Amino acid sequence: MDVKFPSLSKRAQPLAETPARVDFEIFMEAMHNLYCPIKNPNGAIPLNVAENKLMADKLRLKLNEITQTNDIPEWVMGYTDPIGNPEVRKVVANFMEEHLCHCPISEDSIGFSAGASAVIEASSFLITDPGDVVVIPAPSYPMYTHDLGVKNNIERYNLQTHYSIEEFGSIAPVNTKLLNNVLKELQTKNKNFKILLLTSPDNPTGIKYEKDHLERIANWCMENKIHLIVNEIYGLSTIDTSDTRIMKSYPSKMEYVSFAQIMLDRKSNYLHMWYAFSKDFASSGLRFGILHSLNEAMMKAFGNSNIPHMVSNLTQWVFGILLKDDEFIKNYLLENKSKLHKSYLLLINALKELNIPFVPIRGSFFVWADFSQFLINDSKEAENKLWLEIYRNTGVLLTPGTGFEHQKNGLFRIVFSAVKYDHLNVAIRRLQGYLNDRK
Ligand SMILES: Cc1ncc(COP(=O)(O)O)c(C=O)c1O
Repeated sequence: MDVKFPSLSKRAQPLAETPARVDFEIFMEAMHNLYCPIKNPNGAIPLNVAENKLMADKLRLKLNEITQTNDIPEWVMGYTDPIGNPEVRKVVANFMEEHLCHCPISEDSIGFSAGASAVIEASSFLITDPGDVVVIPAPSYPMYTHDLGVKNNIERYNLQTHYSIEEFGSIAPVNTKLLNNVLKELQTKNKNFKILLLTSPDNPTGIKYEKDHLERIANWCMENKIHLIVNEIYGLSTIDTSDTRIMKSYPSKMEYVSFAQIMLDRKSNYLHMWYAFSKDFASSGLRFGILHSLNEAMMKAFGNSNIPHMVSNLTQWVFGILLKDDEFIKNYLLENKSKLHKSYLLLINALKELNIPFVPIRGSFFVWADFSQFLINDSKEAENKLWLEIYRNTGVLLTPGTGFEHQKNGLFRIVFSAVKYDHLNVAIRRLQGYLNDRK
């Protein structure tokens, strides 16, 4: 076979010319021309990357304090347990128990890799063989394709559960009937349905899976020996749905729990959870992700294969100190929620004024919104054109729909935590001006 880059392996061929994100180049362009009210008032405002800029300063100051008032201990300089330093694992397990999961978490059931992406790659390697299929309800996080596919060769199946946002409401639409259909379809194609992957709060819809629903899905997965993984990376970035200004968007009064509680009840080798500090703790650059599983063989295998993915000891040490500071953590988490809430309200009020349908979120940093009324025709090309036109005319960069794999054209993700509140306000005014003119 002729290959374009003969010095590279066959499997690395696409990597030499395909950026990991479709919006990478344009994001770089925007980053070189960032908005500043004084120095660059017409600059770009990127709202495409899921980062928490609302809390980054607060965390940075705290990390400054930690590193300036504590001596780096000896263990930080050497190798540690590949699954994570045992003392830090205890602290992280306690933190998860108290704040994220609200149920007992043993330090033996958690292990660390360098960010959620590394956890995704390292842990899915242990439960799949090349060509196995991961089923993900669409729309979903584009990078799953990369993180699961590039090295582990896991095929992504996008389960289409709905067409329009109005059909969707704020309730997760996956059910066991749909899952049975996918299982049959994949069996007829001789494909191996190995993982069902849910994200809760979800990327990009911001919905959460309620307890009964998750339990039914977990039971179905266990019966069919399919691994169910719930990614709770946005678990502590939730919206107050009892706020009277938005409460009517949430008619369901269901109970929401961390998947860890369902895992604890069932103690199955097929149920696992992912978490990372990147989002709730505004620290995507620190690279700290967590696998939680009660599958002992899997945790052993994780430890024996995790060396290339380990979290640096310096980062583990700093988080070990940070997470023990109860007072700070409680205040930080409250402030995070209140800032997210304020920015979320600003964004959805503008979307309502513009008559742009969106999914009311329960958590996460973003809103999944339907701009299809502005498409020149119903196609992926028109969707990309619109996304680019919005950017070229307003400087506001949304996350393109491509890669989320939703069947309807014209939907984009808007990350309301990607910039401070005042900058979001400017971005929204620019969008309103441009889109009102387009109508
Ligand atoms: C659902 C989901 N999983 C994983 C990640 C990657 O997280 P990390 O930066 O910890 O690798 C992201 C980042 O956007 C995400 O949204």
